[in-house]
Amino acid sequence: MTNFITKFITPEELPLVIEPDNKNIQLNEFHNLLRSKNDYFKKQLLKHGALLFRNFPVQNEHDFTSVIKHLNTGEFLNYIGGDSPRNKITEEVYTSTEAPPSMKLPLHNELSYVKNYPQHIFFYCHIAPEDHGQTIISDARTIYRAINDQVKQRFEEKGLRYISCYPLNSPIMNAINKHHKSWVNVFETHDKQEVERKCEENEIFYQWNHNDWLQISQVRPAAIEHPETHEKVWFNQAHHFDFNPKFLGWWRYIGTKLLYCRKHTLLHDVSFADHTSISRKDLYHIYDVLDQHTVYFPWKKGDVLVLDNVLCMHGRAPFTGKRRILTAMTGSGNPSSAH
Ligand SMILES: [Fe+2]
Repeated sequence: MTNFITKFITPEELPLVIEPDNKNIQLNEFHNLLRSKNDYFKKQLLKHGALLFRNFPVQNEHDFTSVIKHLNTGEFLNYIGGDSPRNKITEEVYTSTEAPPSMKLPLHNELSYVKNYPQHIFFYCHIAPEDHGQTIISDARTIYRAINDQVKQRFEEKGLRYISCYPLNSPIMNAINKHHKSWVNVFETHDKQEVERKCEENEIFYQWNHNDWLQISQVRPAAIEHPETHEKVWFNQAHHFDFNPKFLGWWRYIGTKLLYCRKHTLLHDVSFADHTSISRKDLYHIYDVLDQHTVYFPWKKGDVLVLDNVLCMHGRAPFTGKRRILTAMTGSGNPSSAH
């Protein structure tokens, strides 16, 4: 019978690291462990928000998928409605973001702006980053407590409206900004009626604009309670949907301003749900809180990171050199059940 040890490798005690006590463990023994200790792992996940399985024999996307299946957290979800640039590797597995390596991706809960957000998100390290490139994480309960009370009150009372605009496979837009996905990519269909059906199913407002551009908007809360522990967490991506110099850096910010001079092409925008604008001061305060509570841990090839997507936020540090981190999500309400 395989046994395991647990430990922490960061001062913040996040994630909880789980290692086998037998270095020669086989994949099927890992599967057995995930099944036999399933309750224990799930309890630890609810307590810590993040588990890191290290030194287990996970060598490719298929092993990664099998680990997720044996952990049994729910159905695999497609990335419908999400527009972070990423590539689909298998039916269940995607590359983690393909956003420019020099950019820091701020902490966020995955797809917190969609109705059926994933309950769990998984990362697998196929090639450890050569230089930086950590998947940064943070406890969303801590973030909630650390946000200034007045900011919290404004956000929670008003709620948020996320706005996104996508072209039909536009070669021009793609040549200028290859990370601005088309609505065909976002909804994984060419069929406009299918897009509309998926929007309605997921409480997404939609509007077709000039030249087959699609504008969608979603009204979502700024904070939620965890469905099982009922703990309050910060759960929104307002800071991520506002194009500002702190997020993009000055040069990219100026480029973005020039690229999106026409309002109906702006990739992302955000306001309060009542259409009033969110002050940049508030958004910068959120960035500061996130920065103060960011946890960095080094990736090791074969690592599998399991996050409770409500309790634990994630992002990506900038990097140079090679890096290949794959991702998958599970949940109960599949945003693309008819896909
Ligand atoms: Fe993400």
